[in-house]
Amino acid sequence: MLNKHIRKVAVLGSGLMGTGIAAQLAGCGLEVLLLDILPNDLAENEAQKPAARNRIAATSLQTALKAKPAPFYDTKFAARITVGNFEDDFSKIKDYDWIVEVVVERLDIKKQVFEKVEKYRSKGSLVTSNTSGIPIHMMAEGRSEDFKKHFCGTHFFNPVRYMRLLEVIPTPDTDPEVTAFFMHYGDVILGKQTVLCKDTPAFIANRVGVYAMAKIYQLTQEIGLSIDTVDALTGPAVGRPKTGTFRLGDLVGMDTAVHVINGMRENCPNDEQIGTFGIPKYLQFLIDNKFLGNKTGQGFYKKTAEKDAKGRPVILSLNLDTLEYGAPQKEKLPIIDTLKQIEELPRRIKAVFKGDDKGAQLLQRAHLGLFAYVSNRVPEISDTAYAIDDAIRAGFAWEAGLPSLTRLCPAANPLSCSIHSVPTNRSTPMPNAPCTTSATACCASNSTPK
Ligand SMILES: NC(=O)c1ccc[n+]([C@@H]2O[C@H](COP(=O)([O-])OP(=O)(O)OC[C@H]3O[C@@H](n4cnc5c(N)ncnc54)[C@H](O)[C@@H]3O)[C@@H](O)[C@H]2O)c1
Repeated sequence: MLNKHIRKVAVLGSGLMGTGIAAQLAGCGLEVLLLDILPNDLAENEAQKPAARNRIAATSLQTALKAKPAPFYDTKFAARITVGNFEDDFSKIKDYDWIVEVVVERLDIKKQVFEKVEKYRSKGSLVTSNTSGIPIHMMAEGRSEDFKKHFCGTHFFNPVRYMRLLEVIPTPDTDPEVTAFFMHYGDVILGKQTVLCKDTPAFIANRVGVYAMAKIYQLTQEIGLSIDTVDALTGPAVGRPKTGTFRLGDLVGMDTAVHVINGMRENCPNDEQIGTFGIPKYLQFLIDNKFLGNKTGQGFYKKTAEKDAKGRPVILSLNLDTLEYGAPQKEKLPIIDTLKQIEELPRRIKAVFKGDDKGAQLLQRAHLGLFAYVSNRVPEISDTAYAIDDAIRAGFAWEAGLPSLTRLCPAANPLSCSIHSVPTNRSTPMPNAPCTTSATACCASNSTPK
């Protein structure tokens, strides 16, 4: 393995993820240079002032210091971060051991950034991208041999300090020693669960997680439920985080989610479920109005200045049909009450498959569609079921991984999906038996299997 000691890291891009990564790496003892673009509204009298020119990165850092959940374990670690801008400070990366790109999810922009990185980096320095879904080899096109050898994907999850997953994605040109280094470094120094991924669009966790999200978006409108109800159904009730599905969309950011969905549509022509990744009208409405989620103050949910009886801000929810915000609408569904009364996840999942109201139908169809989808992704995105399991649990904080969930679903049990034949040895590849069962039929036809 590469014998490298990383002391200094340059983080390019100080948005949501850039500041999260900078805070995490500063917390691990690294000296961090956090750069961003020049503000496009610089006044004439500010044009030469460093404080004004560094405003984007400096403001992002100040926001991170107040953010919840806190990106910093201790705000004192922020002293290890120096802010700057792409025009005045880019050349400093020559002294940095690791350069992490975290700019907006656009291949053209990322390629421009890497061209500049090539110009200033020192040979042998490590360069990685935090892209959510752009194939890593595409970003390295046109770069030198030394760059390509030291380049791979290091995909952190949001919020960086709290989500344990770090996907490491080499290209065919990445030096295997660099890959091995990041797998070890991410685990031992950064405290992450590292998962080695193939360079397929959206890698492992997002390919599966975004499918799961897009499927639930589709089912919500088709079955006719409110976003509040679906968030109640798809959160801790089924072993997933309390953001549920739509709040997670607000957390990730609508622009990023749409870039990932579109990237999958463009780059996965042989994906049998590609149609599910369509952009619904309501998502387009949010994008068109720049209602991008938490980062712009409104998305599926909108925080108002009003306070409720307990002094908490009143939060409105988007009606997916009328595209208007209104008071939260929680449908009264027996399955929600049933799930609340059951302690253990396995019994809750079994209860889902015994339910017959609209909420149970949504969960059944979402789960069966997911099992079929994942089953058909092996060996495309991973040779082992455990990598998918690790990625989805550490990246999306699901309580149970897919193989165990599959075994719990009575409707999925007779299936011959490859996900059922999970080898006991973590390094053993999964058999490649495409799922040709009722779960596939379920996700293809959108019918509810009985
Ligand atoms: N948001 C998430 O949950 C999440 C999770 C994992 C990975 N990512 C990935 O991390 C990257 C950044 O995402 P984010 O959520 O932090 O986005 P963001 O919108 O919060 O930040 C984007 C950054 O790009 C910079 N930028 C904008 N235009 C630019 C240009 N022309 N040249 C250079 N920089 C420019 C912005 O100033 C900002 O710092 C993306 O590749 C995204 O896919 C996001």
